[in-house]
Amino acid sequence: MPRTPPKAPKNRLYLDNAATSFPKPPGVAEAVANYMTEVGASPGRGAYAESRTGASVIADCRELIADLIGLPTPERIIFTLNCTDALNMAIKGVVFKALRGGRRPYLITTPLDHNSVLRPYNALAERGWADWSCLHADPESGLVDPDELRRAIRTETALVSLVHASNVTGVLQPIDELVKVCREAGVPVLIDAAQSAGHLPINMAELGADFLAFPGHKGLLGPLGTGVLAIRPGAETLLDTWREGGTGSASEQDTQPEDLPDRFEPGSHNTPAIAGLACALRWLHERGIDRIRAHELELIERVLDRLPEAQAAGYRLLGPPTSQQDPAQRVAVFSFAHESVDPHELADRLEHDHAVLVRAGIHCAPRAHETHATISTGALRLSFGPFNTPDDADRAMDALIEIEATLTRAPIPTSAPATG
Ligand SMILES: Cc1ncc(COP(=O)(O)O)c(C=O)c1O
Repeated sequence: MPRTPPKAPKNRLYLDNAATSFPKPPGVAEAVANYMTEVGASPGRGAYAESRTGASVIADCRELIADLIGLPTPERIIFTLNCTDALNMAIKGVVFKALRGGRRPYLITTPLDHNSVLRPYNALAERGWADWSCLHADPESGLVDPDELRRAIRTETALVSLVHASNVTGVLQPIDELVKVCREAGVPVLIDAAQSAGHLPINMAELGADFLAFPGHKGLLGPLGTGVLAIRPGAETLLDTWREGGTGSASEQDTQPEDLPDRFEPGSHNTPAIAGLACALRWLHERGIDRIRAHELELIERVLDRLPEAQAAGYRLLGPPTSQQDPAQRVAVFSFAHESVDPHELADRLEHDHAVLVRAGIHCAPRAHETHATISTGALRLSFGPFNTPDDADRAMDALIEIEATLTRAPIPTSAPATG
């Protein structure tokens, strides 16, 4: 069937902020371009002003991130390629350290966790370097039970990885209770804040996490190719390095320096992107995370208000039933399954007929889809950011309801192509 071309870019409504945020705050693109055209140098690698400027761009960004999560020691902010890289650094760092100590470690995670935890866990198990188990989650609420975590912890447990907000349902785990269980058992805990950092106030000390992984390119509103592993003071002793190389420091030695952040930051930085990230962070600090959260709560409420209409049109929102949806217990990420229409078909129609851009399929968290009974069909995900308005939420929900009414109901294929 011939398709009309997508509407002009200006009309396009980007609702894939859980993948990467767009648009970025004013000045971010210019900060990247300015670094590339006016500075150019690799920080810490040259004996001239431009290289020192690069180093100060990185130091400045590190401080802005440390301030955002209440970490008084910015050297414990480690720049990574993305959140996946940060999670790998923590997971493999803990496992290598345990193996070096002659222990085969045991790892725990949840079904809501992303493939950037599940795949490293499986890769380590396949090599015989670690064992792991996955907790259960309630099939309705998607929540993990702290008592089950308490029972799952064994003597050899070296790490518990917990996703803060699900990238499928947007639901927040009872993170304080789960971390408390880990603290009481003396087990290190890694939190994947990919969908919460920049959206909610997060204080690393209050959270009690040993490691906090988050991307720079989602809620922090920086460019792609940026991520962070934040390390609690003292927790660096739990980590071995998982890659080594030049740092521009202690170059007389051919072993990795001990000092942070260099120990975990070998190789040249993505300094243009970090310059952009620093600009985004200044915007976030100025706007204030509380205000951003209040704004996103308004968007959440607007989507939840439209649920009865969406349900009448055959959509199911993954996660708690409508009557138990609590805006305070979620972020602005929503996945829908339709009773008879494939999510890819819906996403296609949303783009071509309404210029609404969403994600369809299995959102890199297969066990979350198993929990919510969408592993064979996938789901349609709408994810909002700080520049979206309540009108955008209405436009997306109107479009969802309208296309459903016009679609010929085709049977859903038995398996959906994975999209990531
Ligand atoms: C919960 C969660 N963890 C990890 C990641 C991986 O983040 P990145 O794309 O920055 O590697 C994502 C990305 O969508 C995510 O949603």
